[in-house]
Amino acid sequence: MIVIPGPASVELGQKVGAVLKIKIVPVEFKRFPDGESYIRFEDATLIKDEDAVIVQTTSPPQNENLVQLFLMADNAKDMGAKSITAVVPYFAYARQDSRFRPGEALSVKTMVTLLKTCGVSRIITVNSHNPTILKTLPISVEDLSAFSRLAEHFKKKGFEGAFSLSMGKKGMNTAEEANRVLKGGCDYIPTQRDRVTGNVTIEKKTLPVKNRDAIIFDDIISSGGTMIKAVSWVKEQGAKRVYAACVHPLLIGDVKDKILKAGADGVVGTDSVPSSVSEVSVAPLIAEALKKRAVQRD
Ligand code: R5P
Repeated sequence: MIVIPGPASVELGQKVGAVLKIKIVPVEFKRFPDGESYIRFEDATLIKDEDAVIVQTTSPPQNENLVQLFLMADNAKDMGAKSITAVVPYFAYARQDSRFRPGEALSVKTMVTLLKTCGVSRIITVNSHNPTILKTLPISVEDLSAFSRLAEHFKKKGFEGAFSLSMGKKGMNTAEEANRVLKGGCDYIPTQRDRVTGNVTIEKKTLPVKNRDAIIFDDIISSGGTMIKAVSWVKEQGAKRVYAACVHPLLIGDVKDKILKAGADGVVGTDSVPSSVSEVSVAPLIAEALKKRAVQRD
């Protein structure tokens, strides 16, 4: 097995390679003056007859990162890779996982179909928006969860016993996963998104957080609309310290500052998306999944 760290996940790809003690194929990349992407494997001889693992997140600029991923996969196929696994910690377009309104494009299916065309036979994601839809797509997609790792981070920082919260009833398993580590109890904040405007409203449900530390877990913080409202509500109910934790810190614009202004004591994310808050690494999680599959195949 060899690992190819894509331009969007250089550090994460190198970490995965280091944990697995496998060869790393450096990638030369540039953007042409007209905006097109250029990709070159610095040592293409390392790829022939190998199980190639490409690590490339597809956070913004997602279209460019996706094109780089397609170029790397198709190139690895041309260079004779035995198999190609795409590790895409943040899978762009996964939120459009249904035709919510008639005539909409089913973006997540299109992205997976394109990867298959480029020779990818397996995809690994981390806390993809809707793991159920992933089972119906044209390639096997394995979705890993990083919430325990986030919770472990808080435990190490002395937050054992903090109250774990997640967004929406469907996200309750997130709070439960965190609570298995933090053991301070858990619940969810009811959220609702307007399909047309994208605006989020939260139902002001009473939560047992008075004079307690609370950590709000979500898969993504993007515009911050959801997290800002959740933090304000938890603070209003008398929580002592409130932290915003997410797997994919997209943090568009000055969202981090806005969350802090809403009353959060900190924002923590993973290196699924490199950012100023990516304190927790998903590399061990990914390495473990790759190792398990390699053992199953042997
Ligand atoms: C929604 O279903 C997700 O779990 C997140 O709450 C959402 O994607 C966050 O987006 P934003 O930061 O734009 O509110």
